[in-house]
Amino acid sequence: MRVEKVVTETTDSSIKSFHLSFLREEDEKAFSYLPGQFAELSIFGKGEAPFGMASSPSESGLKFSVNKAGVVTIALHRLEEGEIIGVRGPMGHPYPLSELEGKNLVIISGGFAFTTLRSLVKYILDTGREGFGRVDIIYGARSPGLFLYKDELKDWGERGDLNLVLTIDREAEGWVEKVGLVPNVLKEVAPSSEDAYALVCGPPIMLKFTLPVLHELEFPPERVILSLEKRMKCGVGMCGRCNIGPELVCRDGPVFTLAQLSALPDEGL
Ligand SMILES: Cc1cc2nc3c(=O)[nH]c(=O)nc-3n(C[C@H](O)[C@H](O)[C@H](O)COP(=O)(O)OP(=O)(O)OC[C@H]3O[C@@H](n4cnc5c(N)ncnc54)[C@H](O)[C@@H]3O)c2cc1C
Ligand code: FES
Repeated sequence: MRVEKVVTETTDSSIKSFHLSFLREEDEKAFSYLPGQFAELSIFGKGEAPFGMASSPSESGLKFSVNKAGVVTIALHRLEEGEIIGVRGPMGHPYPLSELEGKNLVIISGGFAFTTLRSLVKYILDTGREGFGRVDIIYGARSPGLFLYKDELKDWGERGDLNLVLTIDREAEGWVEKVGLVPNVLKEVAPSSEDAYALVCGPPIMLKFTLPVLHELEFPPERVILSLEKRMKCGVGMCGRCNIGPELVCRDGPVFTLAQLSALPDEGL
């Protein structure tokens, strides 16, 4: 795919978004995906790594938001518009959209894990907001500059059909929204669990403190949906690198319910 546009998302330049276009029409047709799925991005001579699609299938091309972490992501951050990279996918299972239809959604995220949930929200807004109930989004970042998709968040905040709650860890000059960690803000917002699903994606420490709050709010484990980021190699269930007990995150996930994960060894979260 060709890199059409590179956007530096965060003020510390740790996260960049890449807008890619397909070189061949037949590849575009074959790449049929839904929010929650991922792909392997490869840089020739460096290697490949998995990334969730940040774009929605309702948009053209693909978008990935990449945190600079190691070999592949450093190489991705050096890419310039017009360059060509390898994309292998789509992989894994998406969010269970037919199950979510008509339900209230509580979307909870922290840090750059917001990418695949952005895909879900954009998909819902583009393909039929009226098909879902109330949508609450609780999204936290360490500081204001670290939020992704700032322009889009501003638009979402102005819509009457989304309840967007943004929070940062500590007070910052000019910040007028919430201050506090995601689990505490979730407790404060206290969305009803009636007819609702919680979709959670964030760093392990956020999950550790968020899941008990969801339990207090009486979300049953079958209606808490997580997306896991295990280290991967093949991405297609062949190498066993990403296993949690008998499950392979690339093949059986990365989207799992808390009920499914509770039946697996502790390494699941
Ligand atoms: C389904 C899925 C979706 C993902 N989506 C995104 C996304 O949207 N955006 C994003 O930025 N990232 C995403 N990731 C994470 C990303 O794939 C990893 O961060 C990947 O390792 C980066 O590759 P790299 O070569 O740059 O880093 P690496 O060189 O692999 O190093 C990354 C980090 O892991 C550490 N590390 C290296 N080897 C090991 C090891 N064996 N065990 C533990 N730690 C090790 C390194 O010290 C470094 O801190 C996703 C992962 C999965 C599985
Ligand atoms: S990465 Fe090879 S089995 Fe999952």
